[in-house]
Amino acid sequence: MPETVPSSSARTKIGVVGAGSVGSSLAYAALIKGVAQEVALYDLAGDRVRAEGLDLAHGAMFTPSSRVTGSDDVAVLAGSDLVVVTAGAKQRPGQTRMELAGANARILETLMPRLVEQAPEAVYVLVTNPCDVLTVIAQKLTGLPPGRVMASGTVLDTSRLRWLLAEEGGVSTTSVHATIVGEHGDTEFPLWSNANIGQIPLRDWTVDGRRPFTEERLDDITHRTINAAYTVIQGKGATNYAIGLAATRVAEAVLRDEHAVLPVSTVMEDYRGISGVALSVPSIVARQGVVERLVVPMDEQELAMLHRSAEAIRETLASIGY
Ligand code: 2OP
Repeated sequence: MPETVPSSSARTKIGVVGAGSVGSSLAYAALIKGVAQEVALYDLAGDRVRAEGLDLAHGAMFTPSSRVTGSDDVAVLAGSDLVVVTAGAKQRPGQTRMELAGANARILETLMPRLVEQAPEAVYVLVTNPCDVLTVIAQKLTGLPPGRVMASGTVLDTSRLRWLLAEEGGVSTTSVHATIVGEHGDTEFPLWSNANIGQIPLRDWTVDGRRPFTEERLDDITHRTINAAYTVIQGKGATNYAIGLAATRVAEAVLRDEHAVLPVSTVMEDYRGISGVALSVPSIVARQGVVERLVVPMDEQELAMLHRSAEAIRETLASIGY
């Protein structure tokens, strides 16, 4: 029997697959933000998942009321409105996300049918890497509408980018409007052509009378954003807090039917000539999942980079038989 700690009546339920550092950070963020009335954690490692469930539940006095459950029985996820998948092999220092494709695809092949059996109505959010590749596979395996299977994609990379720009620009991160699109990985890139701070084009932004965002500076910020995960993994073996927050933001947009624009990744159907691969573009996220992919302005170079990203994902899919 799943161990449960009841409190208020359940209305919305988020299921988290994998109780490692990413899954438990995500559950922690979801609890603190009161994203759902029930948070269910599932992992094959029974002792670990029950302990994580208890540890989270023990904070009940300090969070908006939620019920927390941790179990190695997949039935714990029954009736989830949203399921986030974090289970699988993670990057070792120096390893790319794409190198995990084969191992994590095999895990998904067993996992996805079992999840859909428990939560047939849920929206699915893939966090396990390479998340774009796995989104294509999860959508194929389940046959769910493409909008109901998404990856957190470049929501996290966009936060990394905005944080760097905000630090340099001397403003709040929420006042920076810039987005990373494409693969959540080495071919991702920022849409500089329409990036701005408070409606002022990025390159015209001034700090103490000087313009900090020169081409050289922007290249450096791009490089640091793309390599951010490698830096963190080198230092502490994994990334967990920021991805926990990013995936929670996606969950919140879904469960609150926000129609928020977020750069999540879904399988494309003739998006600027791209079909059959998943990658991140600004998308409207609501209760049914992604309801629209926005055709945002891109210059020629950005379009070429989007196609390059799509090719990288397509090549990895082909290399593992998809
Ligand atoms: C991240 O970007 C490793 O994909 C993970 O933090």
